Formats: sequence, structure tokens, C-alpha cells
Amino acid sequence: MMTKILSPFLQHYQNRINQRLKDLFSTLPAPSDRLRDAMQYSSLAGGKRLRALLVYATGHSFNLPPEYVDTQAIAVELMHTYSLVHDDLPAMDDDDLRRGEPSCHKAFDEATAILAGDALQTLAFEQLSKPNAQLAPAQQLRMMHILSTACGLQGMASGQALDLASLGQKINIKSLQQIDELKTGALIIACVHLALAASLNITSNQMEQMHFFAEKIGLAFQVQDDLLDVLSDEKSMGKRTGKDAARKKPTYPSILGVDKSKQLLTILLQEALGHLQTALPNDIYLHELTREMIFIN
Ligand code: IPE
Ligand code: IPE
Ligand code: MG
Ligand code: MG
Ligand code: MG
Repeated sequence: MMTKILSPFLQHYQNRINQRLKDLFSTLPAPSDRLRDAMQYSSLAGGKRLRALLVYATGHSFNLPPEYVDTQAIAVELMHTYSLVHDDLPAMDDDDLRRGEPSCHKAFDEATAILAGDALQTLAFEQLSKPNAQLAPAQQLRMMHILSTACGLQGMASGQALDLASLGQKINIKSLQQIDELKTGALIIACVHLALAASLNITSNQMEQMHFFAEKIGLAFQVQDDLLDVLSDEKSMGKRTGKDAARKKPTYPSILGVDKSKQLLTILLQEALGHLQTALPNDIYLHELTREMIFIN
């Protein structure tokens, strides 16, 4: 998979999350080595760590030392990796390549991949709920609530269900937007809220603007992913491309065409940056990360 050159700030936190994930797996007691190996295999394969970076950059912009957001960063990456392991299963998108390596069910087997996803998800909650010197139990409980609502029936899992149900169907842009907001946007919004939940210094207006900011980049991220499936290649993406059209999956490019989808992406990016600017007029790093996440123009 092509590795991108990140700014020193983003590189620093990408190294931090990679190290913490490595440390986590090297210290996990595991009655089943095979299950632990599968979880570690999928987690440590080269993800961009954008969700963890969103947690760290949000924390940084609200003056939180990184120790106050480390567990949230780990939790979102574990949750995200679980979603990819299951997303690739034969019963879902049936993809054999992920992060430049064979998908979990190819490197191991289907049953192990299902269990690895299950256990990655519970590990995310275990990390958020374990005793934490920086966070009050009430803050941790709030974080558990944020992550669980974002990823279950009210969020990602329903988005994935609707996504699969849409194959071969004609759906309108409004329905597609709802699917994308649920399957991809909800976790991205949660990243921002998980960082903000550690902060005691945030106005309700800032909270609202940060929510809108995350909502826009969450949707934009899936619009871009759909575009990359058409425009990019396997080597750069570390996953198969051209799959959405092959599976007759309604996407932004399939409904609007590539050019209109790009225009929409630009609008979403500008809207996101507008909300960010309102919440944090002097912010640098979230701006930098947003440009890193949404780069097609
Ligand atoms: C891929 O997410 C799945 C989507 C929600 C579009 P990423 O592009 O962030 O995947 P990794 O973590 O870098 O592998
Ligand atoms: C990803 O959507 C959504 C989740 C994994 C929750 P896609 O199915 O488009 O993601 P890729 O393209 O396989 O990474
Ligand atoms: Mg999918
Ligand atoms: Mg997929
Ligand atoms: Mg995709």
C-alpha cells in the first residue's frame, strides 16, 4: 500500500497510535493464540489511523494532553478494524485484500475473522472502561455511550445493513446519504465527541459546530471512498477497486457521476472547514487533518 508523507504533527500521532496498538497486542493475555493473532494481524496492518488522528487532533485543539485521549484513540481504531474485518467477509462485501494484505478471513478463516471482529469490538469497550488515571468514571461512561450508539443499531451496523440491502437497487441520493452517514459518518462523528468528552472547557456553540464539522467530513469521507473505488487502483488503496460497480452498489459516482460527486465533495469540504473555523478560529492541525482525509479535488 502506498504510504503517504504526513505533516510532523500527524506523523507523531500516527506513530503514537501504532505504538500503542502494538503494545496492547503484545501484552494481551489470550487463551486463543489464533484469535489474538487474527486481531493483531488486522489491527497492525497499515491503516492510515485517520480516526485516531481525529481524536488526537481534536483533543489537541481543546488543549487536552494526549494522555487524556489515548484510550479513545485506541478504541476507535479497534472498532474501525472490526468493521473492516466484517465488511470484507464473503457474506458482506466479499473482499480478499485489505490494507495491502489478504483480508482476515483469507489469512485465517471465516470463523476466526467473525470472532476477531467480535473481540475487537469488545476490546474497544474494555479499553474505554478500564481504570484510567486521567478520566472520571462518569466521563468514561459517557464515552462508552457515545461509541456504542455510534456503532450499533442506531449507527454503523444499521448503515451496513442498509448498504447491503441496496445492492442492485435503485435508490435516491437522500437514501444513499443516510446509508453513508450511518455506516461511515457515525464513527467519525464519535471520534470528535469522544475527544470532547474528556474536555471540561468547551462551549455549547463549539460543541455544536464541531459536531457539524465531523458530520460533513464523515459523509465526505465515504463520498471520496466511493470515488476512489472508481478512480484509484489497488496498489495505492491496498484494497480492490472497481468493486462497487461490479456488485451493482449504488454510490455517489454511480448516481451522480464522477464530476458531480467531486463537486459535492468540494462543497462538503468547504462546509466542514467553515464549521471548524467557527468553532476554532486559530486551529491548524484539524485543518491539516481534514485536508489529509479529503484530498480529491
Ligand atoms: C475505509 O476506511 C472504510 C471506510 C469507511 C471508507 P479507511 O480508508 O480509513 O481505512 P484504513 O483504516 O486506512 O485502512
Ligand atoms: C465501509 O464501506 C464501511 C464500513 C466498513 C463500516 P466500504 O465497504 O465502501 O469500505 P471499503 O471500500 O471496503 O473499505
Ligand atoms: Mg461495505
Ligand atoms: Mg467494503
Ligand atoms: Mg468502499
